[in-house]
Amino acid sequence: MNPTEAVVESQTLTSQQVVDLTRKYNYGTWRFQKNWNPMHIVDAEGCYIIDAAGKRYLDFSAQLMCVNLGHKNPRVIEAIAEQARELAYAAPGFATTSRARLSTKLLEVLPKGLEKFFFTTSGTEANEAAFKIARMFTGKNKIISRYRSYHGSTAGSIAATGDPRRWAMEPAGKIANVVFAPETNCYDCPIKHTYPACNIACADYIEHMIRNESDVAAIIVEPVVGTNGVLVPPPEYFPRLREICTRHGVLLIVDEVMAGWGRTGKWFAVDHWNVKPDILVTAKGITSAYVPLGLCATTTAIADYFEDHFFSHGHTYEAHPLTLGPAVATIEEMQRLKLVERAAELEPYVRQKLEALKEKHPSIGDVRGLGLFFAVELVKNRKTKQLFNTMRDKVEGKSLVVDQIAAKMMAQGVAIQTFVSHFVIAPPLIVTKEELDLGIAALDENLGIADALVD
Ligand SMILES: Cc1ncc(COP(=O)(O)O)c(C=O)c1O
Repeated sequence: MNPTEAVVESQTLTSQQVVDLTRKYNYGTWRFQKNWNPMHIVDAEGCYIIDAAGKRYLDFSAQLMCVNLGHKNPRVIEAIAEQARELAYAAPGFATTSRARLSTKLLEVLPKGLEKFFFTTSGTEANEAAFKIARMFTGKNKIISRYRSYHGSTAGSIAATGDPRRWAMEPAGKIANVVFAPETNCYDCPIKHTYPACNIACADYIEHMIRNESDVAAIIVEPVVGTNGVLVPPPEYFPRLREICTRHGVLLIVDEVMAGWGRTGKWFAVDHWNVKPDILVTAKGITSAYVPLGLCATTTAIADYFEDHFFSHGHTYEAHPLTLGPAVATIEEMQRLKLVERAAELEPYVRQKLEALKEKHPSIGDVRGLGLFFAVELVKNRKTKQLFNTMRDKVEGKSLVVDQIAAKMMAQGVAIQTFVSHFVIAPPLIVTKEELDLGIAALDENLGIADALVD
């Protein structure tokens, strides 16, 4: 027995041993392994995570923009225990009380018209389900996605991911027949237009694609793009896209894995534009990430088709009871605490504070967001909008300016997510104004690193 195994055997692990064992036996996701030095987290409460030395860190991006209720909500914890005692597992072919309860609860909060549900254990699997359902239902093959997007890591979802996490899987590690459209980014338009004079040319271009590609089953969009920059479309975009999809018999799939569950100040981001998708995919906030659950919700029209066609999809863990009971408790807690309303109410406060930061720091190119979901994008040059780092830098493991700043913030007790050249501000929806002040002050204090590099 080697020394580390002896320690594991005795069950008395020091924090350093936990880190060493993690590094030795596990993969760090989306990174070069050699510089992975994971912090040992031992506890979490409210808007804070706590390390092995007892130091508290403000969770300013709710982990991976998913712990919307905050940590250690007692009712959700109790629902997990209760479900484990009552019925931990049943094969998906059986009816269970937890599935019936969650399905009726979902009808209260989802956009109207989505009435048939397939449950998964992650966002990526929920997107896989959406693609298969769209292809079976329409009898067509192609999926349109957009470049600034992330839809998950498995073969279908990574194929539909526009960001550089797809590159390592080109071309063989992903499903075929996905084509990319330009994203909607009014700060730095990929087709060099300016809103509103553009008349939403980015949506019209998608219609051009549908006409020229033919065989398009669906388009998948994050209604507010998440990791790739919290890109909020102009108000005309979604109604136009809905109309284009309807006209061409193309399904509209909205990926609300990150933007759903109150994050943007509505239950779902599409609710801002009153658009009815054909399929809505979500995960993360559905259980505030306490247990792993994803959802693929479809219209009755799609559901009806499968009454007499083979529904060729499933998982051992589809509708796993242990994931469903806690989701009911999560939704009830969001309603009881009025967290959707809270995100909307706090939006002007965050916006004003971040706009003030932009006035002060020349390295901030743009501040944008909705609800409690904001991006602060850093640029080398405000005129040219050149970013500090490129997507290529990210996948080559280079030290990114945003990561240097995030490391300083972490040392000061604020944990924040970054991507290429922006920060994602998405705290738990229970966050207080004082906690918002604390997180934004930490950003303020450390932006000097980027300011010093401005052209
Ligand atoms: C918009 C979006 N879709 C899909 C996914 C994939 O979800 P998961 O990591 O649960 O597979 C993510 C994850 O961050 C996401 O942000």
